[in-house]
Amino acid sequence: MILRNPNALIWALSAGLRWHVRRSTRLTLRLSRQSSTATTSNADHGLTIDGNTYATDSWTNVPPSILAQYGRRLHIQPNHPISITRKLIESRFPAFQNRNELPAVVTVDQNFDSLGFTQDHPGRSRTDTYYINKDTLLRTHTSAHEVDVFRDNASDGYTISADVYRRDAVDRSHYPVFHQMEGALTWDRNASSSSEDLAETIMSSLKKLPKHDLVVEDPNPPFHEERNPLQTKYHTPEEAKAVAAHLKRSLEDMVVTIFAAADKALAASGQGAQGEQEPLKVRWVEAFFPHTSPSWELEVWWRGDWLEVLGCGVIDQPLLNRAGVSSRVGWAFGIGLERIAMLLFGIPDIRLFWSKDQRFLSQFDESQPIRRFQPFSKYPAAPRDVAFWLPKSDGPVVVDTPASKTSAPSAAGGQVTEPMSSETPSFHENDLMEVVRNAAGDAVEDVSLIDSFKHPKTGRQSLCYRVTYRSLEKTLTTEEANELHEQIRQELVLKFGVELR
Ligand code: PHE
Repeated sequence: MILRNPNALIWALSAGLRWHVRRSTRLTLRLSRQSSTATTSNADHGLTIDGNTYATDSWTNVPPSILAQYGRRLHIQPNHPISITRKLIESRFPAFQNRNELPAVVTVDQNFDSLGFTQDHPGRSRTDTYYINKDTLLRTHTSAHEVDVFRDNASDGYTISADVYRRDAVDRSHYPVFHQMEGALTWDRNASSSSEDLAETIMSSLKKLPKHDLVVEDPNPPFHEERNPLQTKYHTPEEAKAVAAHLKRSLEDMVVTIFAAADKALAASGQGAQGEQEPLKVRWVEAFFPHTSPSWELEVWWRGDWLEVLGCGVIDQPLLNRAGVSSRVGWAFGIGLERIAMLLFGIPDIRLFWSKDQRFLSQFDESQPIRRFQPFSKYPAAPRDVAFWLPKSDGPVVVDTPASKTSAPSAAGGQVTEPMSSETPSFHENDLMEVVRNAAGDAVEDVSLIDSFKHPKTGRQSLCYRVTYRSLEKTLTTEEANELHEQIRQELVLKFGVELR
């Protein structure tokens, strides 16, 4: 998972523990329930998704609100901003095969084991991932398909775009369903006579890539023994350097394309293109992913801030071996499409992507140059607080996890959290988020912890959350907001045994 601005703490963790999960104290929720014919849920007889019925068990935690979102496939809806963004990125990799219809239900093996995630990797936790049952889940990233697509070996390069699911707090730039694109390019070692020859082949294909005049900050060595290791067992330094150079230039070219389009849209809207003031600037930051080494993130200087846009690296060779293509060597990246679409079009709230409102949808036309989104009215916010005592328990309480500064779905989603604890938390904020999401859907814009207090004598813990109700499509009446809030309060009592204050 992608990490923004790695800090010392992260690097002090062992590789397997560096799990980067976006945590936010704020939550955005859905208002309208979409009915999906693709999905039904039946607690007694299992879950039916895409016509397949899955037995449920103690791992099952996919809520109705997520099942209701299932099957919208925004990334392939004509004229949808997510789809336009996907196509723009695909256009920079013309020889790649584009896989855009892979189903979201995958096995634990596909999502984690096949990529080399350790058993104690926190991403496997039920507080972070939507499980259908102990062996089956809703993919948390498009990397879940890497091994299968490598095994097909149908083209040297491919992209996979898809909806991905994470149990996360949500705010105006976080949503439990979002879209990623995976891209990978590999070369066949057997097509070269020697290792030098392979590195040379890669370098000569690099020379054919488009040149750009981007300012690139890349202070890192090509690999680093501890921080960002070369896969010494499999790659020569020259091979890894060539793959990394090709990777970096390819992605820089992609970023130039995206930001040039964003800049043009800004200029056309009369807001003044960033490019008028300063040249486009990017930087490479060392990163960690279980399925690449060395690894990096690419950040872009955009309107006064470093914005993390993607994660990438030299593909883990054992992964390619597992896919039966041990002679292939190459790179992979993952990028979050919402974040890119938000900056391309100037879309201020991630819930808008799910809107069926013509005032939103009619603004996008894939046959036209990208234009800035014109916000329609903003309806008033209705904040309501809920304060409660947690039941007495010795288990850990997970609250107020740090909000991501850039706050938009990254390729991977986030920041470091603690390694997976063997102890089940007695209270996890994500569970509260889900209660709110299920009750109020997109009528909630934000949920934040505003107070946390431990009673000095009884040791009991009290929490207070502010739920901000605001629909994107209409004004909520006081009664509507009260009703939703009351429902949430009662659910908290029923589900977690809290005592309302
Ligand atoms: N799958 C990673 C994530 O979601 C992103 C990634 C893809 C990183 C491919 C490297 C290579 O965090």
